[in-house]
Amino acid sequence: MPSYPYVLLSAAVSLDGYLDDTTPERLLLSSPADFDRVDEVRASVDAILIGAGTIRADNPRLLVNSAERRAARVAAGKPEYPLKVTVSASGELDAAANFWHTGGDKIVYTTEKGAERLRREPVAADVVALGPELDWRALLAHLREVRGVERLMVEGGGTIHTQLMTQGLADELQLVLAPLFVGDPEAPRLFGPGGYQGGRLRLLESRPIEDVVLMRYAPTAPGTGTLPCAADRHWLALACELAELCPPSETAFSVGAVVVAADGTELARGYSREGGDPHVHAEEAALAKIADGDPRLASATVYSSLEPCTHRSSRPVPCARLILRAGASRVVTAWREPDTFVAGADGSGMLAAQGVDVLVLPEYEERAKAPNAHLLS
Ligand SMILES: NC(=O)c1ccc[n+]([C@@H]2O[C@H](COP(=O)([O-])OP(=O)(O)OC[C@H]3O[C@@H](n4cnc5c(N)ncnc54)[C@H](OP(=O)(O)O)[C@@H]3O)[C@@H](O)[C@H]2O)c1
Repeated sequence: MPSYPYVLLSAAVSLDGYLDDTTPERLLLSSPADFDRVDEVRASVDAILIGAGTIRADNPRLLVNSAERRAARVAAGKPEYPLKVTVSASGELDAAANFWHTGGDKIVYTTEKGAERLRREPVAADVVALGPELDWRALLAHLREVRGVERLMVEGGGTIHTQLMTQGLADELQLVLAPLFVGDPEAPRLFGPGGYQGGRLRLLESRPIEDVVLMRYAPTAPGTGTLPCAADRHWLALACELAELCPPSETAFSVGAVVVAADGTELARGYSREGGDPHVHAEEAALAKIADGDPRLASATVYSSLEPCTHRSSRPVPCARLILRAGASRVVTAWREPDTFVAGADGSGMLAAQGVDVLVLPEYEERAKAPNAHLLS
């Protein structure tokens, strides 16, 4: 499973939801103190991405402006400026734009056709062609695995934000609401039409900054099938945190589990030996809190820090069977069951054989193992 960076979308919008007006000059939506906050966020990330449309419309430099913040980056062993990234299908990029001539390294992700054009009309950047079409997952995997980017800030425009949000690839939205109206239907909007998650996002923070308000939201809806989305990582991390709450045991694993509906509503959570029951497993504890026949279960995802068990001596029905009985269609786990108590358990295989989509995210394996270290030595 490829790794992606943490993806943070950043934008300022008018009260009527526009990113800009239609005049040639860029509309300043943020307040001075908020521009400084954005500078701080830029200084904290490994890379900043904008769409080719924003390069054409705004001709931004996309720098960390504060000399102190740049010095702190260097002192921490990072490049003075974050990597600047753009995406263009056409490869029609102005070689004289500020983007290419300021800051540190630059990279353009494009299509084969775009790369061909950039060979004829080059820009001062590395060019990576991702195939006939640009695939966001391939782009994020390349940034993480080849360029070492762990935190990516995306500063628009709306076309880019819409794609990352509808594809479930944004970990966080940092939205600033500015107290002005644009009122022009031709102006670019933050989010266009698309298949967004059904339910509510999670508010992480809200804060007035001079006359604007910063809101930080995280998507909540699980992915579909065996493709991971950003919210899957959040929920699996929560399952790993729950595993830390388990009363210690020498004879059973410490596991956390969360059951989440398709719209991102948390249905239940649980952990091993919860509530003084020495035998209860995490998935069992969570599923027991959901009414039988709850219609949301059919499209729910079960997150479990350790794959659901297939054999247990303490109770007649193992957790993989409980999940099948409950009718949940998707399981996301961090760690395949080792042979400590049961040889060849393979809960993932059992679930997959019954048509459940099973996804293992090994980037969380160490966190899942941590409360079980005494059983693994
Ligand atoms: N208020 C804010 O915070 C803020 C921030 C940023 C931007 N903005 C505003 O947003 C507006 C620009 O937004 P926009 O939506 O027009 O442009 P955009 O999102 O910046 O860029 C769109 C361009 O990116 C490339 N692209 C997008 N998706 C792609 C994909 N899947 N594969 C390959 N290439 C892809 C295409 O480039 P090619 O055409 O080259 O193929 C496309 O035309 C400007 O008015 C700007 O001022 C506001």
